[in-house]
Amino acid sequence: ARSAAPFVPEGADLAALRAAARGCEGCDLYKPATQTVFGAGPPDARLMLVGEQPGDQEDRAGEPFVGPAGKLLDRALAEADLLREGVYVTNAVKHFKFVPAERGKRRIHKTPARGEVVACLPWLHAELSEVRPELVVCLGATAAKAIMGTDYKVTERRGRVEQAGDFRVISTVHPSAVLRAPDRDEAYAAFLADLRTVRDQL
Ligand code: URA
Repeated sequence: ARSAAPFVPEGADLAALRAAARGCEGCDLYKPATQTVFGAGPPDARLMLVGEQPGDQEDRAGEPFVGPAGKLLDRALAEADLLREGVYVTNAVKHFKFVPAERGKRRIHKTPARGEVVACLPWLHAELSEVRPELVVCLGATAAKAIMGTDYKVTERRGRVEQAGDFRVISTVHPSAVLRAPDRDEAYAAFLADLRTVRDQL
């Protein structure tokens, strides 16, 4: 099976991990992508947020959650009295997976395959070992299944603090799901409620 493991330097700090991740060829997603999008935030953050994978704008900028989903996330974090600056934000998969639009230059997000998530896990595990957050927040099913196992269902377990190995973990929906929801206000309110649960844990 493909894996990032041979590219992850042992005993490296976050800066060295980030630098090494630029050269990752642990799966094929690096080929069409612009660049690796590694996690960002303070190395001593008490909270780590884990998304799915970088989107179109993140792929161009090289930073996680800077596009539309990131804007919604920033707003919700602020409303929940959680400052984005204090949080370490990363993704389960570090390269943007996409298909070209039928016409034009747009690139359409594709959900990563399980094999790609598994291949990328050594980076997430290295980030967790370095940051040692008090609480990990999974944003959506891809992150939740990466950390809690493939049986995990966000719809059934969101908003609940659970123990997963060394870490306390909670899940909520992905901010992109809030943007796409038929009733966006309701979806946003539920997302915010989960982030307030997070805030109350710290
Ligand atoms: N969606 C994600 O899951 N992660 C990002 O960084 C941006 C959008």
